[in-house]
Amino acid sequence: MIRDKFPMLKNNPSLIYFDNAATTFKPQEVIAKINEFYTNSTTNINRGDYDLSYKISNEFENVREIVRTFINATSVNEIVFTSGASASLNTVAYGYGLTNLKKGDIILTSESEHSSSILPWFRVADSTGAIIKYIPLEKDGSFSIENFKKSMSDKVKVVALAHISNVLGYIIDIKQISSIAHSYGAIVSIDAAQSIGHIKIDVKDMDVDFLSFSAHKLYGPSGVGVLYGKYHLLESSNPYFYGGGSNITYDNCGNLKLKNSPYKFESGTSNIEGVLGLGRAIEFLNENDFEKLILKEKELTRYFIQEISKLDNVILYNPKTDSSIITFNIKGIFAQDVCVYLNRHNICVRSGLHCAKILAKVLETEGTIRASISFYNEKSEIDRFIEVLKNVTLDKCLEDIL
Ligand SMILES: Cc1ncc(COP(=O)(O)O)c(C=O)c1O
Repeated sequence: MIRDKFPMLKNNPSLIYFDNAATTFKPQEVIAKINEFYTNSTTNINRGDYDLSYKISNEFENVREIVRTFINATSVNEIVFTSGASASLNTVAYGYGLTNLKKGDIILTSESEHSSSILPWFRVADSTGAIIKYIPLEKDGSFSIENFKKSMSDKVKVVALAHISNVLGYIIDIKQISSIAHSYGAIVSIDAAQSIGHIKIDVKDMDVDFLSFSAHKLYGPSGVGVLYGKYHLLESSNPYFYGGGSNITYDNCGNLKLKNSPYKFESGTSNIEGVLGLGRAIEFLNENDFEKLILKEKELTRYFIQEISKLDNVILYNPKTDSSIITFNIKGIFAQDVCVYLNRHNICVRSGLHCAKILAKVLETEGTIRASISFYNEKSEIDRFIEVLKNVTLDKCLEDIL
């Protein structure tokens, strides 16, 4: 059983973990890989002239190939290791945006973006005079291709969108977005933080220019992520931080010659164990038929939606979610109070604005509860969750608080 491969699940049998959009649990293999690095293979990479350093440097570089194959990139030089999706998204904004945008250019995005996707562009707009425009969302917060088409013009130079909204779970048709954006000469930067662990990603098929994600939402470790970029675009971008390992030479007049991508973006000692863990996480998914796991997740989500829709006390924000994110409120009870109550029943979900503060205004809510499913969840957990939710009242929520 897939659950048995996750120590967090084995060691916490009564815990119901429905916060997989925040982070996922790690399979034993990933933990073992990191442990192995610290117990038998600790070294720095690409610096030491000894066998151990060569061996781990090769393993580290091999993870680039594992990631390349996983997302179907053309070359390993298009795979940059970062500290996570936020760092990748910042690299696109500061690296590509600051270098290539000018006054009056439009950065087109949506009102449902995560702050890690939108805030770097705020700064770029301030510095370059570029303008941020939002594609209007539908009343229910969903994305509309028609509105996207209407928002496009020759002035749009960057389209920055999440593949899956981290609040409403809607999947955007990126292939269509890329085709339309490219016909106007704009580049497409996709925040794949919520899709990488739930959809088979093919950057060539989607024809995206940049794609960002974190390992920790892909059953890998925290503090490591990936920026994919088409090679010529990475080459026309500058790093947003500088240091050892990223340059060929520099002198006391300030002349600096950087290495080519990906190394120019990877100054300083990398998160070596994190990258090795990411590689093992992807291998784990490949070994366990990732596409079948995705189908199981979809089936669980459908069941979740079916069951939660039967409850009269629930306001469901995304009944048509096509990912594994389910967002709701209990009528008349503040979202966080419900989460505190659920916690007493050993259930982990998230409440609040989910780092998408503009969307909260569109949905006219002060916060929502988000349950997010993984393939390692079970129908019986959903049943227990629904039973608890059925009986929730304001008095019960406030019992411990007042
Ligand atoms: C849609 C989206 N983008 C970006 C991020 C940022 O990811 P990280 O915190 O791993 O950098 C998240 C994290 O929740 C997210 O959901």
